Formats: sequence, structure tokens, C-alpha cells
Amino acid sequence: MIIDERMSAFIDSLDSGNPAWLNEIEKFALETQVPIIRRSMQSLLKFLLKFTKPKSILEVGTAIGFSALLMSEYAPEDCHITTIEKYEKRIPIAKENFRKAGREDRITLLEGDATEILRELEGTYDVIFMDAAKGQYIHFLPDILRLLPPGGLLISDNVLQDGDIIESRFAVTRRNRTIHARMREYLYELKHHPELETVILPVGDGVTLSTKKEESTVTQNK
Ligand SMILES: C[S@@+](CC[C@H](N)C(=O)[O-])C[C@H]1O[C@@H](n2cnc3c(N)ncnc32)[C@H](O)[C@@H]1O
Repeated sequence: MIIDERMSAFIDSLDSGNPAWLNEIEKFALETQVPIIRRSMQSLLKFLLKFTKPKSILEVGTAIGFSALLMSEYAPEDCHITTIEKYEKRIPIAKENFRKAGREDRITLLEGDATEILRELEGTYDVIFMDAAKGQYIHFLPDILRLLPPGGLLISDNVLQDGDIIESRFAVTRRNRTIHARMREYLYELKHHPELETVILPVGDGVTLSTKKEESTVTQNK
């Protein structure tokens, strides 16, 4: 927890909540140790979707479909969501959740490793939500930048590694060192890339919001 637990609980308690069917999927995920977005991230996503009104969303990391369904609930009705998942055990559960919610026509699940799938995708997505293996974000970035239009929004979750990100690499466990180095590189890239404007927020486990600059602004700032 990177912010005070009581403060986080207080802020969450003010949220108006989600429909009962979404609460059930959230409960199932928590009971079966499926990692899903926290309440604070849910709240931020709801706000961003109401504000940006995207027509297309790309999610990397479906798990059992909780965040995709949450986004389908708060994005405009004509918004299409494409979501990528590689873990075979989670894919059928996600599909069943999409079917039960009657959202199969609004959500497309692409099965397989995002490293390969992202390379094959064409066109652009108004919003891209990155919520997969943290150590891979930096490798996904070139494709993500290609798939994000000027004015598009890239949201990346879990970027502050439970607070470990500020520690020296020797202070984090050996197991987490590669992720630590790659996440620092990712954050540096997001903040210094000439095509992006990025803010890092201590929400949940840390979130970045990046927008791709309009082409004229990129040239001016060079
Ligand atoms: C944190 S969970 C996603 C949670 C989901 N967004 C939600 O909040 O409901 C991350 C998911 O990304 C998947 N994942 C990790 N690396 C991936 C990759 N390279 N390609 C596709 N899926 C990946 C994992 O299997 C896991 O189910």
C-alpha cells in the first residue's frame, strides 16, 4: 500500500459503487486470488471513461474480465473493447463472464501473448489500458505508441511496485530486481518520450496517465 490504508479506505467508502453483477465478479476474483484492479483504480477508470468518451479501448491483461466489464459499463454504449489474455485457465471464465453480462458483442477477447498480438494489431485505440505483467510494459511500449492516436490516453496500472520503486535495486528482493529496473525504465520513457505527456499518480499501486501529443506540438518541442 503506497498511501495510508485508512485514507484509502475513507476515499473508497465515498464511492457510489458498481452494479451487483459486477460486485459478484469482483468477489469471485478476490476469493480465488485473481488479481484485479482495486477500488481506487476502478474509480479513476470510471472518471476517465466518462470524461474521454472513447469509441475504442485496448486492454492488455484481461484476467477474468472484471476491468473489461467495468469499462464496458462506464464507457459510451458504442465503444468497443479489445482485451488480451494469455493464461488459458482465465480465458474461459472471462468469456463466460462476458456472455452472462450480455457484452459479447462489445468486448473482443484476443487469446495469446500480448507480445505477439500487439505486433499484429492495426488501427488505433482511443484508450489503452495496460494491466499485464509489469516487467513487460517497456517491451510493449513501441507497439502501444503505434496503436495510440494523437490525443489518445494510455493508462498503466501497478507502476510503483508497492512502493519498492523508490528503493535502491539492492534493497528489493532479488526476484523483483528485473521488474524494478524495467519499471524504472518504463517510467523514465513515459516521462521523457517526445510524443508523450505523462503524469504519475500514487493511486492504488501507482498509475500513469499518458497522452500522445498532437503532431504539431511534437515538432515544436523538439
Ligand atoms: C492484473 S491481471 C489483469 C486484471 C484485469 N485487468 C482486471 O482488473 O480485471 C494481469 C493479467 O495479465 C495477464 N498477462 C500477463 N502478461 C501477459 C502477456 N504477455 N500477454 C497476455 N496476457 C498477459 C495475466 O495472465 C493476468 O491474467
